[in-house]
Amino acid sequence: MIFRQLFDSESSTYTYLLGDEATRQAVLIDPVLEQVDRDLQLVSELDLTLTHVFDTHVHADHVTASGVLRERTQATVVGGAGGASCANVQVRHGDEVRVGQLVFQVLATPGHTDDSVSYFIGDRVFTGDALLIRGNGRTDFQNGNADQLYDSLTRVLFSLPDDTLVYPGHDYKGRTVTSIAEEKRHNPRVAGKSREEFIQIMDNLHLPKPRKIDIAVPANRACGHLTPSPQGA
Ligand SMILES: [Fe+2]
Repeated sequence: MIFRQLFDSESSTYTYLLGDEATRQAVLIDPVLEQVDRDLQLVSELDLTLTHVFDTHVHADHVTASGVLRERTQATVVGGAGGASCANVQVRHGDEVRVGQLVFQVLATPGHTDDSVSYFIGDRVFTGDALLIRGNGRTDFQNGNADQLYDSLTRVLFSLPDDTLVYPGHDYKGRTVTSIAEEKRHNPRVAGKSREEFIQIMDNLHLPKPRKIDIAVPANRACGHLTPSPQGA
């Protein structure tokens, strides 16, 4: 399997490129609008064909590139059920998505948002903002729910094999990857914490509103299309 991890420094977002060596079909997970040219150049340099774009959820902190990538490559846009209505395929827990010979299993991991899904393949899982390195996504907007996220973390993600590599949607401290075992032991929000303790931690974060939320959420429901300009550009 071809695998690359890409980073958008403005939003600290990770984008992942996974390609099937046999068919050269590829998927970008959580691409960022401003990085379309960079990502497509890499796809082309690796002699891949972009056939899919997966979003882990409707993001509030950056605009997805899914719609622009679909226009430029005819890729199929995949997102969690109840999220972006523009997605070609809305997936649910237990669904499988095939990219060439790569088979991704969909895990519903709501709580950060109600449409959050993780994509599991082989020895790795792409968790979006459900599980971050030593953290997790906030639960105070977009139908976030700390009670639900506790289940997504402890019952869904922590039931994966301990050595599963966890590739998150963001990191703000320069870390790139973790594992299920590491997070079970060292994630300060959930390791050794009861449901009530977790909910209390999440209720008391008092985070500032994401800078781009008012633009990003409506745009991302439309696969990244910002409100059309008068020129229709
Ligand atoms: Fe998010």
